[in-house]
Amino acid sequence: MSNTVINGFSKLSREGKIRVLEQQTGSKGLASEFESFQHPVQQPVFDSFSENVVSNFHLPYSIAPNFLINGKLYHVPLVTEESSVVAAAASAAKFWGSNCGFNARVVSTLKSGQVHFLWTGKKEVLVNAFPDIKEKLIAQTAPITENMEQRGGGITDILLEDYTGELLNYYRINVRFETVDSMGANFINTVLEAMASSLKSFLSEQFSNAGECDIIMSILSNYTPECFVECHVEAPVARFEQLEAGVSAEAFVDKFITAVRIAEFDVFRAVTHNKGIMNGVDALLLATGNDSRAVEAGVHAFASRNGSYSSLSKVYVYRDTFHFSVTLPISIGTVGGVTSLHPLAKRSLEMLGHPSAQELMMILASVGLASNFAAIRALVTRGIQRGHMKMHLGNILSQLGATDEQRIKATEWFADKTVSVAAVREFINNH
Ligand code: MEV
Repeated sequence: MSNTVINGFSKLSREGKIRVLEQQTGSKGLASEFESFQHPVQQPVFDSFSENVVSNFHLPYSIAPNFLINGKLYHVPLVTEESSVVAAAASAAKFWGSNCGFNARVVSTLKSGQVHFLWTGKKEVLVNAFPDIKEKLIAQTAPITENMEQRGGGITDILLEDYTGELLNYYRINVRFETVDSMGANFINTVLEAMASSLKSFLSEQFSNAGECDIIMSILSNYTPECFVECHVEAPVARFEQLEAGVSAEAFVDKFITAVRIAEFDVFRAVTHNKGIMNGVDALLLATGNDSRAVEAGVHAFASRNGSYSSLSKVYVYRDTFHFSVTLPISIGTVGGVTSLHPLAKRSLEMLGHPSAQELMMILASVGLASNFAAIRALVTRGIQRGHMKMHLGNILSQLGATDEQRIKATEWFADKTVSVAAVREFINNH
């Protein structure tokens, strides 16, 4: 491994990059390994997504079938490397499908972005000029917003907000947007940057004697508390009788409720609980070419909206009926960006029936609720390790280079035994 900085890496050809990597990292055989993961037909498409591309990183593309959501059946594509996420989502989908199904609704779809700036003059100058500033911002961004307006979206609100109490001279222009079926990041950022330059020129033309405007940055916010979806399932408590062998309906429901209560106040549990929701959500975001980092960031901030980090799902029993729900801020798109470029993202959307962004928000929330239900169901009964390790057995067998025959025998042998790397190694050595 060399410590020499590589200059001009991005300018090298792919082959040149790999050669330099082999020299600098001491990793042998990269060229053939990377080549084996190149796509024979679609490689130019994947190359266009990023810089310095040398190969592709494969992840499993799976289906969790039979999600009954608002009376419509979906077979949901999931991209995840975590064994058991798909099986868990599919089993919860089956259970709830044979009850009420998932009932989801989008409550609001507004997104926002901010122009952050410093103004050294008096606040009144900004406040008094703001109606004119607003008019100018709208007029100057009209060519950018025209298309979006034709699709039913655009700017819905422009506000001046004073944060000088937090930071000397700091104000922001908070802009709300409706972006219909696109996630809208590029649209929002383009509008905000245009607004920032109009704001600066307006203030320097009209009020150069009153103060100075310094634009700090213009960017959308991935916190989207006004773009959110709710999903709810319910069933008579009796429906849980023997759902897990030897566990009564009442015992199951009591433990389930206690598990969610713990995630309401204990941050150590809440983070893992919410991670269980995001297992399914992220997998569907990836399968549809959406930005999972943006949704993750917003979701966890939302989980802290009342002052401390808490569960995103809620549960209660009313008149012998079990109610379980989740509320998630999700800003996604079903047109534009990678959603329409990645061949499998296109297929995912096709299999889901070309959903609108709102419909996909509802599917995402349903998969999140299903993942959460499956995780808690396992945790409060048999534990998660049995299921996890069963799935993990396949990974261990691959890692140890097991033959097909050894795989079949090992799967049978470990059906009722504890899986560990050492136990599987011993089994392979003896078979
Ligand atoms: C593992 O990926 C997810 C769980 O830890 C979620 C949970 O604990 O609720 C099982």
